[in-house]
Amino acid sequence: MTKKVENIAVLTSGGDAPGMNAAIRAVVRACSYYSIKCFGIYKGYEGLINNEIEELNARSVRNIINKGGTFLKSARSKEFRTIEGRQKAYENLIKNNIDALVVIGGDGSFTGALKFSEEFNFPVVGIPGTIDNDINGTDYTIGYDTALNTVVEAIDKIRDTASSHNRLFLIEVMGRDAGDIALNAGIGAGAEEILIPEENMGVERLIESLRKSKKTGKTSSIIVVAEGDKSGKNIFELGEYVEENLTNYEVRVSVLGHIQRGGSPSCYDRVLASKLGVGAVETLLDGKSEVMIGIVHKVVTIVPLNTALDKRSHRHDGLIKVADITSV
Ligand code: F6P
Repeated sequence: MTKKVENIAVLTSGGDAPGMNAAIRAVVRACSYYSIKCFGIYKGYEGLINNEIEELNARSVRNIINKGGTFLKSARSKEFRTIEGRQKAYENLIKNNIDALVVIGGDGSFTGALKFSEEFNFPVVGIPGTIDNDINGTDYTIGYDTALNTVVEAIDKIRDTASSHNRLFLIEVMGRDAGDIALNAGIGAGAEEILIPEENMGVERLIESLRKSKKTGKTSSIIVVAEGDKSGKNIFELGEYVEENLTNYEVRVSVLGHIQRGGSPSCYDRVLASKLGVGAVETLLDGKSEVMIGIVHKVVTIVPLNTALDKRSHRHDGLIKVADITSV
């Protein structure tokens, strides 16, 4: 029989994402609702290894639902990748009487969580928190909606300059392995071309397509480039290549960077985080482990962590075509 869960700890790990605070708040308050103790671990797995743990109550998480970042702080821990690091982490959990762990993060954080749970038979539940939306088994990850809106707002502003000066802008957005931000923000902001890691359109085809749209009367262009795009050129090299091969266009490059990860979470992200936070605590109380709490067709869903870490199929169904059609 599995041990009854009475003391849950929560941490945020990997890149911060807007809505992480709302998720922590939901976990803490769900613990309070079900009359169990909740502990916050600072700086992700790093803080777990260094025993930076403190008890939280419903009042510890007041006034944070609207705040970006994570008040627990986050880190990408190298030490947790070692068995010695994970052993220290386990000892600290035992020392603090903690019997289950909620990990809010992305694929790297889930990989660590799964390994840890398997090695020490320790109950772990994941909540997908990353702006990249690159987790399998959930329609959305916490932070993605806010990041998309930030990107669209930034591109709208850049468009003013692009059209006033008849310029072509290459705009780099986040997404090392996933094109969700680039594709969706690109469509939302009316980009002419979108380059994503999952599909290499090739630089020649890019120039050809830009030439064509220029012929149809376009006087400025926006190209959204995911940071992990597979053209083989970085965005500045790509900018030079486009300028050399496309006459009469002044080219500029803009890298949006970390503004995409910050800011107050959208209402969608706050509600999603609240649902998943409550779901995570209830799932641990049900005796489940090594699962992620996701959202599928608006329904909170329990997915094995293994599945969450699988490469996604049908990732961008129909969207590339929509982008092509609407950018003619
Ligand atoms: O995983 C989220 C993410 O924002 C990626 O899109 C990006 O490649 C990466 O984090 C950047 O990480 P860092 O802040 O460590 O440079």
